[in-house]
Amino acid sequence: MACEPDAFSRLRSCEGTAQKIITQEENMLRTGILITKKKGLHYIAENENSVKLFKPWLGDSFSFLYDFIMKGSIFPQKFGADMSKHYKILSHELKGIHGKCVLELATGSGSAVNFLENDNQYIGTDISPGLLRKALKNFKTAGFKEARFYVASADDLPFDINIFDICLCILSLNFFNNVRKVFQEIKRVLVPGGIFICTLPVPERNSLQSTIRGTLYSEDELGKICQEHDFEFESMPDKNGALFYFRAILQ
Ligand SMILES: C[S@@+](CC[C@H](N)C(=O)[O-])C[C@H]1O[C@@H](n2cnc3c(N)ncnc32)[C@H](O)[C@@H]1O
Repeated sequence: MACEPDAFSRLRSCEGTAQKIITQEENMLRTGILITKKKGLHYIAENENSVKLFKPWLGDSFSFLYDFIMKGSIFPQKFGADMSKHYKILSHELKGIHGKCVLELATGSGSAVNFLENDNQYIGTDISPGLLRKALKNFKTAGFKEARFYVASADDLPFDINIFDICLCILSLNFFNNVRKVFQEIKRVLVPGGIFICTLPVPERNSLQSTIRGTLYSEDELGKICQEHDFEFESMPDKNGALFYFRAILQ
C-alpha cells in the first residue's frame, strides 16, 4: 500500500478562515498546495480568501438529476450499454483489492461505490462540487471509512509523486481537454507498478452512431498514449455497447 496507514489521520484541519487551511504537511500534497475544507469537500486554496473553482461542467447544474440521466438515458440510449453489466465488469476487475490507496479522476456522484471495496483508502477528484457532494453521501452510506473528495482538475492534481496504487477514470477521459497532461499527472502520482483502470466510449464500438460529448479516442490511440507515458496497455475483453475497458500498468 502506497499511503502510509495514518495518512488520513495526519491531515490537520484547524478552525477559522486561515485556520481552515489544511497545511501542506499533509503528506499527500504537492509542495506549496494548501487546502481548505468546506462542507466536507477539499478545495485548493488560491489564497486565504479564495479557492480554485472550475468552469461549471453540465453535471454541476444537473447534479441532482445526474444518476437518473445516466441510468435512464445515457447508458441505454447513447452507449447502447447495460449499467449493471458495467458495474459487474469493474467489480470483477477490482475484486480482491483491499487496503489500497485509490485515486479516482472525475468521481462524479460516486459510482465507484458500486465496484470498489469499502476498505480501500479512496481519494475522489472532480471539477464539480455538486457531484462531489453527492459522492460524499454515497461513500458514507457505502461504509467507506477513509474517503476524501477534492475539487480539482484531472490535468492538475494537487497530490505529490508516488502516492497512489490505483487510479480510476470511469466514463470521463473524453471530457478532458488535455488528455496527455492528464496521463502525465497519472504517471506522476502513481507508484511504479501502479495500475490505471479506465473505461470510456470509443468510436469503433459506437454502433448506434450516437453523438457522444467530448473527444473520442480509438482503442489504438489509447494504447499509443499509454505507451508514450510508460504504461503497459491491456485491453479487457468485455463488450458493453460503445464502452471500452482497459488497464494500464506503470512501468
Ligand atoms: C459522465 S461523468 C462520469 C462520472 C463518474 N466517473 C461516473 O462513472 O458516473 C464525467 C465527469 O467528469 C467530470 N469532469 C469533467 N472535466 C473534468 C476535469 N478536467 N477534471 C476532473 N473532472 C472532470 C465531470 O464533472 C463529471 O463528473
